[in-house]
Amino acid sequence: MTTILITGGAGFIGSHLVRLFVNKYPNYKIVNLDLLTYAGNLENLRDVENAPNYVFEKADINDPTQLAQVLEKHRPEGIIHLAAESHVDRSISNPVAFVETNVLGTVKLLNAVKNLWGADLEGKRFYHVSTDEVYGSLGDEGFFTETTAYDPRSPYSASKAASDHFVRAYYHTFHLPVVLSNCSNNYGPNQFPEKLIPLMINNIRTEKPLPVYGDGQNVRDWLWVKDHALAIDAIFHGGRTGETYNIGGNNEWTNLALVQQLCDIMDELLGRTPGDSRKLISFVKDRPGHDRRYAIDAYKLHHELGWSPTVQFAEGFRETAKWYLEHEDWLEHVVSGEYRKYYEGQYQD
Ligand code: NAD
Ligand code: TYD
Repeated sequence: MTTILITGGAGFIGSHLVRLFVNKYPNYKIVNLDLLTYAGNLENLRDVENAPNYVFEKADINDPTQLAQVLEKHRPEGIIHLAAESHVDRSISNPVAFVETNVLGTVKLLNAVKNLWGADLEGKRFYHVSTDEVYGSLGDEGFFTETTAYDPRSPYSASKAASDHFVRAYYHTFHLPVVLSNCSNNYGPNQFPEKLIPLMINNIRTEKPLPVYGDGQNVRDWLWVKDHALAIDAIFHGGRTGETYNIGGNNEWTNLALVQQLCDIMDELLGRTPGDSRKLISFVKDRPGHDRRYAIDAYKLHHELGWSPTVQFAEGFRETAKWYLEHEDWLEHVVSGEYRKYYEGQYQD
């Protein structure tokens, strides 16, 4: 049996990836290593928690002793590393936490895996999951490719860029068999409601103001989270060692147009008068250093590994809105406690 260790598997993308691998590969043992920070939630994995090929290990990637124990116990041949601090606004209020988890945590994980595998690298793979935000901000034209120079501009993207560099350094210096991907914004079920789409759905649901930063004209490319998981699957199994693959949805939206679209979908799902929820839109002060536009050229991934997004936005946004409305208990659990303090601090004026 092949053992794959997925870090951050209780988070948004990680939980979709764990589910995909547990169900699709019964001959793999999937070890989910997660610290269960505010963003990690085992409720995301209720449907697979008793599967015979699934194991959860609560551990901190920043703790070399815990890491060595988990690695020694399971001796994985593959690592897929998603554990991170992932929210740009939090990185603006607390950059150091992002350096600790995303940079130091990644280096400690690389080191622990290097120690475990030693010179026996046959059949091994370390997959680092990263973001398109490392490339910086685009104007109205153009796309990020795998050769676009790094130009991170937020503490979050700077910490992810640093982690990418360390992963490549372990490939070149120690021959660790790595592969990387840089993906655009994900959306779908189980995303923590501090990120744009679930935050807006939750506020529409509870008839709270919809805080659009600045002029609402910043552009993001949105990918259905399960399509990201399928891309990771394709790259983990077929990607070339040492290479990087961009992943994107070919689905660009200004934030304002996206929020308006969500309002219309929610009005319909909630039986409200069309146009009602749009009245909740409220322009608030801009995010400092707010990147204007991200857009991905995913040709390499499509050409080499045949991956394309399977879900289009019209279906994906509606499915997402429906999921949150059908899982109000999940929303209520995750917005209680620590998150409420964060929300009040972030949107106080
Ligand atoms: P998330 O914040 O939902 O989940 C992160 C997970 O990591 C949580 O389960 C958390 O408990 C865990 N974690 C945090 N610190 C840890 C530590 N020290 N030790 C062990 N576990 C720890 O994040 P996400 O949105 O699912 O993103 C996952 C990965 O994908 C991140 O590396 C992120 O940079 C990358 N990414 C995200 C997006 C996106 O749109 N969300 C896009 C591209 C890339
Ligand atoms: P977010 O979901 O935080 O992802 P990222 O910053 O990684 O792209 O934000 C997506 C876009 O939405 C980004 O341009 C910032 C904007 N935004 C708002 O306008 N209001 C909000 O309350 C949030 C959280 C984000």
